This record gives sequence, C-alpha cells and structure tokens, in this order.
Amino acid sequence: TLSPSDIAKRASALRAAEMVEDGMKVGLGTGSTAAFLVRRLGERVRGEGLRIAAVPTSSGTAALARAEGIAVVTLDEAGWLDLTIDGADEVDGQLSLIKGGGGALLWEKVVATASDRVVIIADEGKRVAALGRFPLPVEVIPFGLRATMRLIGEALVGLDVEGRDMALRKAGDAPFVTDEGNRIVDLRLGRIGDPRRLGLELNRIPGVVENGLFTDIADTLVLGAADGSARVVD
Ligand code: A5P
Repeated sequence: TLSPSDIAKRASALRAAEMVEDGMKVGLGTGSTAAFLVRRLGERVRGEGLRIAAVPTSSGTAALARAEGIAVVTLDEAGWLDLTIDGADEVDGQLSLIKGGGGALLWEKVVATASDRVVIIADEGKRVAALGRFPLPVEVIPFGLRATMRLIGEALVGLDVEGRDMALRKAGDAPFVTDEGNRIVDLRLGRIGDPRRLGLELNRIPGVVENGLFTDIADTLVLGAADGSARVVD
C-alpha cells in the first residue's frame, strides 16, 4: 500500500526507466524516487536481459543497484554517461532544481554534468514557481566549518533571498557526514530570486565544495501524479 506521493514518485520513475536502452551507461540518482527507478531497472536487467553499466550517485544507491543485479562501475571506468536519471527536492519552470535533501548533491552533480542527457523524476508536488522553500543544502569541508558558515552568511547579504537562517545538518547527535567525508549546511532562504547567481557566489567560498542548486543541468522532467500517470516536460 503506497501513499499518494509514493504512487506519483513511482509513476515518474517507471516512465523514465523506459528511456534506458540496451548498452547504455547510466547514472543512477539518490532518494526514494530514484529507488523506484533502480528497482525497475533491476527487473529489466533480470527479466529482459537489459545490459547497462550503472554509476551510482551515493553509497546507498550503489548498494541497492548491486542488490538488484545491476552492473555497477565507477564514473572513471565509464568515462562518460549516456543518461542520468535522478530525483529532486524542488523543480522550477526553467528546470532549475534544488537537490541534496538526501545529502548526495556532490556526486549527483558530478555524475549529471558527465552525462549527455539528464532526466529528473519527481512527484508533481515538487514543482514550484520559485525555488527556496526547501532548505538549500551546501556541502562544506569539516575544516574551518564555522568560518565557512560565517562567509556563507555574508555572501547572502545583498542577494535576492527571503531568509538567511542556516543549520548544520545532523544525523542524530552528530553532524551528518557525506560520502566524501564532508558536512552539509542547510540554508533556509524562503525564495531564491536568482538561482544561477546564488550558486556561483556560494561556490566562490573556499570551504564550500558544492551547492544543491542545479541550473542548466536538467534536460527533461518526468512528473508523476497520484493517479499513477506521468507526463514528460522538456
Ligand atoms: C539526494 O541528495 C537528493 O538530491 C534527492 O534527489 C532528493 O532528496 C529527492 O529525494 P526523494 O526522491 O526521496 O524525494
């Protein structure tokens, strides 16, 4: 028994799974929507003999893909990818995204930008007029974390955002640690007026590794609905 939002997530994932063709090198996203995709691709590998080489965007997705019998390779072994399919936390009308709710934004961005085509799978509820209600994840190195957070705060002054609160992401009592051994700072911005500019300003800070704004990266959006239908938006 799936919730309405899970039905929508699964609908988008199943549609996108049909875009994967024999012989492709495929980037696999992270999160609950991407998990539906990985399970469906596993079915296709086992049932149809679909041959793919998959590059996971997190240790969690790697474990799931292997359990599904999908051939997992590193990005360097693959070289370049035909297609990456990943979820998102928010999507706007330009197909700009906030990602990193699952903490995997760095590998996700590296994999997406090493792909000929990027397809985003999401339930309709993630479509927004302006990005920013979902806290923007920023991956920072542990060294000098407090100074980096101060510099992030200073960078936000003068930018077109509604709020400027931030919090170090926790996993229980300890800081959340990414697959690269870094930390995540979540920025509560409310509304982001200029996502491209914000992304560039954040990445100028030395302790910042990457941020969860994906602009000019997604090519196609597959939106799932609670009635089990899915529609493709380019
Ligand atoms: C992972 O870091 C994120 O970018 C995910 O793509 C995002 O959190 C979507 O997750 P769900 O599919 O679980 O909503």
